[in-house]
Amino acid sequence: MSEDYAFKDYNQYSSPQLAVMMRMSNAFHNALNNARILTNSTIFIADYGSSECLNSLLFFKDSFAPFRETSQQPILLFHNDLPTNNWTKSFKTILEHQNSYVNLPNIYFSSIGRSFFNQILPDSSVHIGFSSLAFHFLSEDLCAPDHALASSSVDQEFKERIVKFAHEDLINLLELRYKELVDHGVLLMQFAGENMDIGVYLHEANEKAYEKGIINREEKRNLSTGSYGRTTEEVQRALDIEREKFKVLYISKEKIPMFNEKNEKNIEVFLGLCRGFLGFKLQKSVRRTDEERNQILKFYIDELLDIFERRDHQLLTDIYIISLEKIPKER
Ligand SMILES: C[S@@+](CC[C@H](N)C(=O)[O-])C[C@H]1O[C@@H](n2cnc3c(N)ncnc32)[C@H](O)[C@@H]1O
Repeated sequence: MSEDYAFKDYNQYSSPQLAVMMRMSNAFHNALNNARILTNSTIFIADYGSSECLNSLLFFKDSFAPFRETSQQPILLFHNDLPTNNWTKSFKTILEHQNSYVNLPNIYFSSIGRSFFNQILPDSSVHIGFSSLAFHFLSEDLCAPDHALASSSVDQEFKERIVKFAHEDLINLLELRYKELVDHGVLLMQFAGENMDIGVYLHEANEKAYEKGIINREEKRNLSTGSYGRTTEEVQRALDIEREKFKVLYISKEKIPMFNEKNEKNIEVFLGLCRGFLGFKLQKSVRRTDEERNQILKFYIDELLDIFERRDHQLLTDIYIISLEKIPKER
């Protein structure tokens, strides 16, 4: 298998996601102050969907440094992602990056290679549950028959299926995190909403590839974003169902420019992101020879770059930030 297909180098091309993560700094600062009240012993933090950890270690370094000026309380961080995540890279990055939180005193880490659709930590053990750009991935990869972006599908049957599926997934995620959190612990999460330019771009490239006979109908369907951006009503519905378990501390939804400036560096990052994502998708769902896959990849990269240039290097995504506090069960 050619090296080109591994979903690798997430760290190298993830600066736009770091900028998005940093938007949670204030809410995280509040969650840390809250954790300090909840325990005078070790603060436990779970980082759901951490990928190769570069963004996490920079975010946490930035957040823990001011905290360390006033508190020496130990912190234990659990980075979580799928078992297939490149954990070797994660550990190396955490340990070797000059700006890592490990350079601060009394911070410890561990990792959990298991889907966050399971309970991954004991009951009542987590003071802060944290997740950036991961909870829009569903427990199963559902691809729309008519659009690369599931939320843009107009196929009635598919729409009904995915709305129900995504709702059940979100309820499941909230229930699992509820169990893991200590009473009054905070779940701080950020995930994508229904409008994701990357899906619109991918759809355009898919249609072109299909028209030119480069991919067949089934391959077109499989080359989707692989995630589902929920609408405000869908998120609100889940929060309403969970209102006796979680108090909403903060909620916002904004259209965030993942890229918004015309420059060479942005092109490099955009293409790196697309290459990683498409390479992973091609390997997973397109049964072809390595050479054919490389040709398909090249076609898509050229197309996506063309679309990116036509759109003046803009790439917008709806992003929610939601901070919830666990309401203790009545005993
Ligand atoms: C876009 S990356 C975000 C990485 C990092 N949090 C950041 O903001 O840079 C999404 C991550 O979520 C992970 N992910 C998706 N579904 C998951 C699941 N069911 N369990 C654990 N991790 C999952 C992916 O493997 C991927 O590493």
